[in-house]
Amino acid sequence: MSEAQSTTRPVFREGGTNPYVPMPATVIEVITETPAIKTFRVVLQDELAMRAFHFEPGQVGQLSMFGVGESTFVINSPPTRMEYLQFSVMKAGENTAALHTLEPGDTVGVRAPLGNAFPYETMKGKDIVFIGGGIGMAPLRTLLLFMLDNRKDYGAIRLLYGARSPQDMAFSAELPEWLSREDLETVLTIDREAEGWEHKVGLIPNVLLEMAPSPKNSVAVTCGPPIMIKFTLQALEKLGFTKEQTFTTLEKRMKCGVGICGRCNIGDKYVCIDGPVFSMAQLKELPNEL
Ligand SMILES: Cc1cc2nc3c(=O)[nH]c(=O)nc-3n(C[C@H](O)[C@H](O)[C@H](O)COP(=O)(O)OP(=O)(O)OC[C@H]3O[C@@H](n4cnc5c(N)ncnc54)[C@H](O)[C@@H]3O)c2cc1C
Ligand code: FES
Repeated sequence: MSEAQSTTRPVFREGGTNPYVPMPATVIEVITETPAIKTFRVVLQDELAMRAFHFEPGQVGQLSMFGVGESTFVINSPPTRMEYLQFSVMKAGENTAALHTLEPGDTVGVRAPLGNAFPYETMKGKDIVFIGGGIGMAPLRTLLLFMLDNRKDYGAIRLLYGARSPQDMAFSAELPEWLSREDLETVLTIDREAEGWEHKVGLIPNVLLEMAPSPKNSVAVTCGPPIMIKFTLQALEKLGFTKEQTFTTLEKRMKCGVGICGRCNIGDKYVCIDGPVFSMAQLKELPNEL
């Protein structure tokens, strides 16, 4: 298995041909995850478009604040739960700061789905190891929940999720359920001791080595800050995971999201249509431009 799922072209409003026109969506819920991250649950205002909306785990969308800008976020609710589309936004600059002002009832623009998906079909029957750091947990959440909703299709599922401190851990409302599930092994870690913390303390790659998942019939999916990814990949290699067994999702900056503007290319690949999901074997073939 060396290829990420083939590209799904974006689906836009019925009858619409302009790939730059966002679909208006209503924010139905805002969750403050951490001081820097908010989660937005949105529904497309066109009910037919919402019902027809189809995407696969790993695909992203562009969220626009009218008059401010547009930026890319993974759809982190799974396609098995279509009551709303969920995006988690870490404050980085102008557009994300504007998105953080959204409240239930407000309108936001959505262009989605964009990009490719995790190869969840070829992962069937395999053991899965998720390794997420910080906001990098967002794309993993989509695939994790999708697999839990199709539990019998997959082998053992293990999740290692790390953040700097307990306060920086997103999706905290879901963690008790993930920790208590018998069909999911969840390990949480933070960088330094904190009062009241009952889980692991240590950097993600070190905790991964302690967990020592077997590479046999396994797939590793990782996402997080570049420094975490670098050492996590080294740890996976030490454990015997090959580049074909390891997947990640890139955050190279995008503009059009549909393979036209050339903003997101790495060598001859466009992150917006050939990615954002790549196997490490695919990334190895690309020039070192990240
Ligand atoms: C495929 C993909 C999926 C993404 N998924 C998520 C997600 O689920 N949640 C989330 O919070 N963010 C995600 N991002 C990153 C997000 O798109 C950027 O943080 C956002 O565009 C910043 O917009 P801004 O106008 O607020 O910041 P800007 O003013 O544009 O930039 C502020 C700072 O953030 C840096 N920055 C901007 N864009 C990126 C980027 N793409 N990668 C790394 N650094 C960047 C800039 O260099 C600058 O230092 C994703 C990006 C991509 C390409
Ligand atoms: S963002 Fe325009 S080509 Fe990828």
